[in-house]
Amino acid sequence: MVEPLKWEDGAVRILDQTELPGRVVYRTCRDVGSMAEAISSLRIRGAPLIGIAAAYGVVLGVWGAEDEGELWRRLEAASERIASTRPTAVNLFWALERMRRAAEAHRGEGSDVIREALLHEASEIHREDRDRCRAIGKHGAELLPERTSVLTHCNAGALATGGIGTALAVLYVAWERSKEVRVFVDETRPLLQGARLTAWELQQAGMDVTLICDDMAGWVMSRGWVDAVVVGADRIAANGDFANKIGTYSLAVLARHHRVPFYVAAPLSTWDFSITDGSQIPIEERGPEEVTQGFGRNTAPEGVRVYNPAFDVTPAELVTAFISEKGVALPPFGEHFRRWSCGAYTSPNRGRSVRKYRTKRKLFGTQRCGLSRNGL
Ligand code: MRU
Repeated sequence: MVEPLKWEDGAVRILDQTELPGRVVYRTCRDVGSMAEAISSLRIRGAPLIGIAAAYGVVLGVWGAEDEGELWRRLEAASERIASTRPTAVNLFWALERMRRAAEAHRGEGSDVIREALLHEASEIHREDRDRCRAIGKHGAELLPERTSVLTHCNAGALATGGIGTALAVLYVAWERSKEVRVFVDETRPLLQGARLTAWELQQAGMDVTLICDDMAGWVMSRGWVDAVVVGADRIAANGDFANKIGTYSLAVLARHHRVPFYVAAPLSTWDFSITDGSQIPIEERGPEEVTQGFGRNTAPEGVRVYNPAFDVTPAELVTAFISEKGVALPPFGEHFRRWSCGAYTSPNRGRSVRKYRTKRKLFGTQRCGLSRNGL
């Protein structure tokens, strides 16, 4: 299975996903700046992988610190730099908070000890994600019949995680168990994560893939060709509203209309128990050129106003079940989520830390194209 990120001798080797599927190019991030750039530009992307990258980014940030005072200054600067990259996936803030706690546990013990503790924590976050993906796959595969046709959106596979993915883990494990699985992949405008990444990843794995444009999903469902929709998530609120790649909400509405089960697969690091519902999820807006000049060619008139939210929020009522490493949650979700959250890593500071970074993010501004969020 493809490995999108690896720690190697004081640096992080990443598979540059902006080059796929044409070229398989690996790059090396040696400092926090290049790691932050890789996250912002989507060279590495997908909520769990962003969390892992954030953790290693902190390690890179403190790497050359000569004394403990310098290490703490660098830790703060690295965390702020990484927190300013992408606002929606909570895994990034979750990982930053975990790294801070790992460092705090060794305050006063010197820069070498703290740096080693940080590297250990980052590799734990990485390793745990691999195990979580496998567990998600096992729980999710139980939901699929022996012969099934599934539709997915964006890329929630090995390219987006430290393991075999979240939504795609469900399909990989079903397939390993000799279930007959056919996958429809939405191309996922505007950056084509479905066409460029998921179709590539599933093809590499030898699975039965059919690529469709996003606007074909309703027609494909109406023909009875889709038995289930399985997607990942970037942030799940305490009530089950969740953010995922733009277009997910429309798919959920279509699935409800056609009575197709709609499953959301994610590790517990994607839950944000500090927010009660989806209205509190910050939605990243990206540059207009992604819509008007996707992949180099002008596809819209010069100067046209563009709205380009990278994510949307799907209300919990449209979700058939959530799949996490802990199992499957059916509605009403609240009770399941409360049980899941008990064993999960949560920090007393976590909500505060997420809010702190969110406030900073507002100062930097997420509006890239002169539109106010409510100004359309
Ligand atoms: O903008 P991206 O490519 O980072 O968006 C990724 C998604 O929306 C994924 O579906 C989500 O992060 C889950 S990945 C396991």
